[in-house]
Amino acid sequence: MIVSLAAMNRPTGYEPLYTLKPVAPDVWIADGGWIRFYGLPFPTRMTVVRMVDGGVWVHSPIADQGGLAEQVECLGPVRHLIAPNWIHYAWLPDWQRRFPEAETWGSPGVVARSGSRGVTLTFDHELGDAAPHAWTGEIEQRLADSGYHREVVFFHRASRTLILADLIENFERARVPWWTRPLLRLGQVCDPDGRMPRDMAASFRSRPGHLRNVVETMIGWDPERVILAHGRWHDRDGTAELRRAFRGVL
Ligand SMILES: [Fe+2]
Repeated sequence: MIVSLAAMNRPTGYEPLYTLKPVAPDVWIADGGWIRFYGLPFPTRMTVVRMVDGGVWVHSPIADQGGLAEQVECLGPVRHLIAPNWIHYAWLPDWQRRFPEAETWGSPGVVARSGSRGVTLTFDHELGDAAPHAWTGEIEQRLADSGYHREVVFFHRASRTLILADLIENFERARVPWWTRPLLRLGQVCDPDGRMPRDMAASFRSRPGHLRNVVETMIGWDPERVILAHGRWHDRDGTAELRRAFRGVL
């Protein structure tokens, strides 16, 4: 399926784009334009956390347009760049060039995936199932690994903010092209009941205990808000939203 250039330039509904928006003390998001994935247009979003020492942690960086990198730099020294899963790496090389002093952290599987697409990525560290020393105590993490989908989920303790990439997607009908709506419905990723995409959920069926364990960890963190990379994120009642989205695995 071909997505026209015009479609990729249409508004996402999350304007202003490439602008830091505060969502909690020391936590910001920036919404970006569309990215194609298997022919479907996805709106993009990144999350930025300022750590206690003033260093800046960037989750799933989006395209650096409109002076976004300068805005991030104004928050403090950029210390960590995160590719949270095997398919969220598109603009990481640009941010690595922009902030060569930052350490880069990649999900298991991301180097192989990007390599298969002709993109050579280099990381300083691979993300695992527990927070590294660099942010332990401030940001918790778990690795959800189905063997197909690998994603590291993060929880900023001070603000009770859970940060996901694709583990939940929540597309808003009015904000996506009409022709994608049947596919998104089929994928069970439509607001207000956006869930784990159906193909991803199927991949976890061989490891039901593992996914349940990760979900129970996230619920145990008791997040106030849940930031998603695609679609409407949840600014309140985060724990209830997790119970809704993962009701099939609890
Ligand atoms: Fe994604």
